Amino acid sequence: MIVVDLKLELLTRRFGDFVAVDTLSFSVNSGEIFGLLGSNGAGKTTTIKMLTTLLQPTSGDATVAGYSITTQPVDVRRSIGYVPQSVSVDGSLTGYENLLIFAKLYDIPTKDHHARVLEALEFMNLADVRNRLVGQFSGGMVRRLEIAQSTLHRPRVLFLDEPTVGLDPIARDSVWKHLLNLRTTYGTTMVITTHYLEEAQSYCDRIAIMHLGKIAAIGTCGELMVSFGGASHTLNEVFDYYAATGNDAGGSFRDVNTERASAQRLG
Ligand SMILES: Nc1ncnc2c1ncn2[C@@H]1O[C@H](COP(=O)(O)OP(=O)(O)O)[C@@H](O)[C@H]1O
Ligand SMILES: [Mg+2]
Repeated sequence: MIVVDLKLELLTRRFGDFVAVDTLSFSVNSGEIFGLLGSNGAGKTTTIKMLTTLLQPTSGDATVAGYSITTQPVDVRRSIGYVPQSVSVDGSLTGYENLLIFAKLYDIPTKDHHARVLEALEFMNLADVRNRLVGQFSGGMVRRLEIAQSTLHRPRVLFLDEPTVGLDPIARDSVWKHLLNLRTTYGTTMVITTHYLEEAQSYCDRIAIMHLGKIAAIGTCGELMVSFGGASHTLNEVFDYYAATGNDAGGSFRDVNTERASAQRLG
């Protein structure tokens, strides 16, 4: 039986007159890795913020792990993990200390704190450096720590907003390898935004390309390429077409600036 872990129904968010997310409807199955693609300003982060209950929809609804984001936000929060676009760990604490704070936050029983934190660190290959200050971590290590932090309570659905931006290819592969492990071990469903098409192609079961707040195309990478004329086209060409990057899809200075800032902080 296929279990649906995420279902958007006409999900919409306006800022004043501007429609940032426009009547989105799609579903993600349990255990799926779903990629949300699109150029700057397409509406990816706004979508994720609504699905994580950080931002109220203007209209429409969505269920996450079976709970409505509008009427059951507390249940949604208990079922999810979230790695935001900007850095979310404290550089002045050690890796271990960062995770301990979240073990408390997530109501994990005190007697289990140490074991659970250690397990999460081991899972992300950070156990050896757990007593080092996070300010001295590389960008890839910071991202792996953030994933450990957001999965301490073993959420059913994990949202990651550009988890690999600003990382070198080796660090990116390592982040993905650990995400795949997470899915294998816990069956975690993941919604991931990324700019890197190769990553989407290698690791996502399905992708949606967003443009101006709407879904321009959705399916497996293979399906999108076939719908676009098959093997003679690359995923890059498909993306450029649907994300309309060729004709300047927009994206304000603020979007680019935010992204650069977070890429810089990750080194
Ligand atoms: N708090 C806000 N107030 C006004 N406009 C916003 C706000 N947040 C996002 N936007 C606008 O909504 C659009 C989508 O932004 P965002 O979801 O961050 O896009 P993405 O993550 O795909 O780059 C952009 O044009 C952005 O400027
Ligand atoms: Mg964004």
